[in-house]
Amino acid sequence: MQTKVLILGSTGLLGSAFKHVSKNYNLDFMFPLRDELDLLNPLELEKYIKSHKPDFVINCAGQNAVKAIENDLEAFELALKLNAYLPFELSKLSKQYNFRLITFSSDYVFDGQKKSYRESDLRNPINRYGLTKSLGEQLAISLDSKVSIFRTAWLFGPFKQNFVSFMVSKAMENQEIKVVDDQYGSPTFTIDIAEYILDNIESHENGVFHLVNDSCVSWYDLTKLSFMILNLSNKVQRVSSEDFKSSVNRPLNSCLNSYNITKLRPLELALKEYLTNYEL
Ligand SMILES: NC(=O)c1ccc[n+]([C@@H]2O[C@H](COP(=O)([O-])OP(=O)(O)OC[C@H]3O[C@@H](n4cnc5c(N)ncnc54)[C@H](OP(=O)(O)O)[C@@H]3O)[C@@H](O)[C@H]2O)c1
Repeated sequence: MQTKVLILGSTGLLGSAFKHVSKNYNLDFMFPLRDELDLLNPLELEKYIKSHKPDFVINCAGQNAVKAIENDLEAFELALKLNAYLPFELSKLSKQYNFRLITFSSDYVFDGQKKSYRESDLRNPINRYGLTKSLGEQLAISLDSKVSIFRTAWLFGPFKQNFVSFMVSKAMENQEIKVVDDQYGSPTFTIDIAEYILDNIESHENGVFHLVNDSCVSWYDLTKLSFMILNLSNKVQRVSSEDFKSSVNRPLNSCLNSYNITKLRPLELALKEYLTNYEL
């Protein structure tokens, strides 16, 4: 019998990458949409899992509107449900129905005061989004079930707007481009994540893993690198986080290092593939 893989959140930035690469794998995939399965309804979720009996559940659902979560209580509440309570619910079900849960977390669980972070570093979120992701990790792991948590960061990829595609569209329209140059992170290609997870589907272990393309760059560096790959000569102005007044505290340096798994390929290669092989 074929291995059954249930993908949640398949219309999102990361989930759509899983859907795109799924044709290359000899696995039995399920991609229920929101109207077939409301992830905020635990009874519906259990019923779906009970009847479809997945061997793996890959949870790409979440609420990532960092600014809204910080400023709007309703968005914060929704983020708590999707980012913290849903991984807990899925972790409970994984015990009961014997599947491995693969779920995603974020570099924003860290405060950004270190040069780079390893898996074992202490979480210390400095905004509400980070808090919801940190809670999700703790709750999912607390049950001692078959759970693999992959922290990733600054996602870019096809099928949904992201920072890179947004900057390129601004350049195409000759708009003024100002980018923060003092926040560092590890931008990651959604397709690389999906392929890594599916290539190794049978061998994931319990625990927390950093899954990012190999780099540690600022938003400014990422913009310049993207423009260089596309031969765009638009001017990019550097601004500091202080100048770029925001209602959200963001970690200044949340670069991730992988000590528990092999790193994905260097950022430059992944970015080149995205910018030259996919529609932006
Ligand atoms: N984006 C990043 O830069 C980034 C960085 C670090 C970590 N991550 C993590 O990576 C994961 C994926 O992020 P993403 O950027 O791909 O997210 P996304 O694009 O915002 O997609 C979220 C997905 O969740 C689904 N969803 C939300 N509420 C739902 C509900 N009640 N019932 C069913 N489906 C629901 C959405 O469906 P609809 O289309 O129907 O709304 C969508 O498919 C998240 O865990 C996120 O925290 C992301």
